[in-house]
Amino acid sequence: MDVDNKFFNVALLIVATVVVAKLISALVIPRSRKRLPPTVKAFPVIGGLLRFLKGPVVMLREEYPKLGSVFTLNLLNKNITFFIGPEVSAHFFKAPEADLSQQEVYQFNVPTFGPGVVFDVDYSVRQEQFRFFTESLRVTKLKGYVDQMITETEDYFSKWGDSGEVDLKYELEHLIILTASRCLLGQEVRDKLFADVSALFHDLDNGMLPISVIFPYLPIPAHRRRDQARKKLAHIFANIIASRRETGKSENDMLQCFMDSKYKDGRPTTEAEVTGLLIAALFAGQHTSSITSTWTGAYLFRHKEFLSAVLDEQKNLMKKHGNKVDHDILSEMDVLYRCIKEALRLHPPLIMLLRSSHCDFSVTTRDGKEYDIPKGHIVATSPAFANRLPHIYKDPDRYDPDRFAVGREEDKVAGAFSYISFGGGRHGCLGEPFAYLQIKAIWSHLLRNFEFELISPFPEIDWNAMVVGVKGKVMVRYKRRVLPVD
Ligand code: HEM
Repeated sequence: MDVDNKFFNVALLIVATVVVAKLISALVIPRSRKRLPPTVKAFPVIGGLLRFLKGPVVMLREEYPKLGSVFTLNLLNKNITFFIGPEVSAHFFKAPEADLSQQEVYQFNVPTFGPGVVFDVDYSVRQEQFRFFTESLRVTKLKGYVDQMITETEDYFSKWGDSGEVDLKYELEHLIILTASRCLLGQEVRDKLFADVSALFHDLDNGMLPISVIFPYLPIPAHRRRDQARKKLAHIFANIIASRRETGKSENDMLQCFMDSKYKDGRPTTEAEVTGLLIAALFAGQHTSSITSTWTGAYLFRHKEFLSAVLDEQKNLMKKHGNKVDHDILSEMDVLYRCIKEALRLHPPLIMLLRSSHCDFSVTTRDGKEYDIPKGHIVATSPAFANRLPHIYKDPDRYDPDRFAVGREEDKVAGAFSYISFGGGRHGCLGEPFAYLQIKAIWSHLLRNFEFELISPFPEIDWNAMVVGVKGKVMVRYKRRVLPVD
């Protein structure tokens, strides 16, 4: 009996010890230390950086199959945790700014946009400035912008001959600078100051290099030119604003909207703020839109079945509306919309979205694994990788605009944040409707008036650019025609 009792007591002691140990570990050891996401294997210290420099998407392609949808890369003294796929990225897109913020990770934009705007101001001010963006991009405003886009497009292509060979990429970049100038920067810039202003924007552009992300104020010639260009732009816009105010002239452009915007406390925007917000708009919208226009064309010329579907849609609209094109007619172009959306799924120009995490949080993966992400991590997701997940998109590397058609809607079936070329949630792109209208205005004009043939090889991706686009020239042969409406 004594022996039995002793045996029972020892067993009880062991069980009690295990329970207490479990309790202590649950209470004392921070949760995040127990369930950290797996880490990318790399050489100590600079291994992570080397993996990242090989190309973030290359790294994701290698690691996702091994580590799953949530994993961490040690990048020098920082941990970057990736969230790949809609099942794990809801928090990334929806978290309040106090939990996941953009300010620190997008700081490198400050010397380009200038002081007092966007990432140089507190979130409460930034929110108000984004309200100015939203107001300047309302449907009533967009209708006016579309008329200007159409005039610019017609004018630009009227200068092409009856037939010829052009670099489509160059042509579309050029046209989009012109339309952006008119709709965003205003008539004064478009009509009188275009050469000066586009040269200055060119310097701003060239001042944003991969090295600028880490050292935005490094004293290199490109940064010096960037700073001078921004000062000169500020001067030009100060004059335009002063002259509009003096004459009481009001225009339908983003410049006017920003000039007329007021903060909640009644304070009007300053000239420097208006300039900074316009620069930010151009940076957000110009390359992204011209790159997407180029991919759209390249895919349509390669996939004749979709080209003829788009042409049929144009013919039907011409039967209905004649040659007229406006905001509402562009909005009827569903087939063209899907063709653009699919080009953008395969080639989102912003390949990596970042936030800085200020709170611990947990995430559960599709296969039920739970991870705790400690505060202090940089969190990231990648449109370029997540837009091609095979459990969301059937045959994901194939160009198939019909995947968005009624009945399939692959991006909707898989739930929110399955298609993230425009981001989503709290910081989703404010310029998405503007971008689609612009690209549709260009392509409906081109397809109605020209026949095309791609004469250079199908373009490759230029992974080295800050806004990832098309490598090299995209040569096409064109012939003027009038689209027959039978
Ligand atoms: C094809 C064209 C475009 C693409 C692919 C694109 C993509 C994106 C993406 C991915 C984001 C989210 C960034 C993040 O979450 O960190 C974003 C935000 C934004 N975009 Fe666009 N964009 C395009 C065109 C435009 C245009 C034309 C404008 C304005 C005229 C614009 C204005 C903005 C603004 C203001 C934000 C910030 C929203 C916020 O943080 O609340 N974008 N864009």
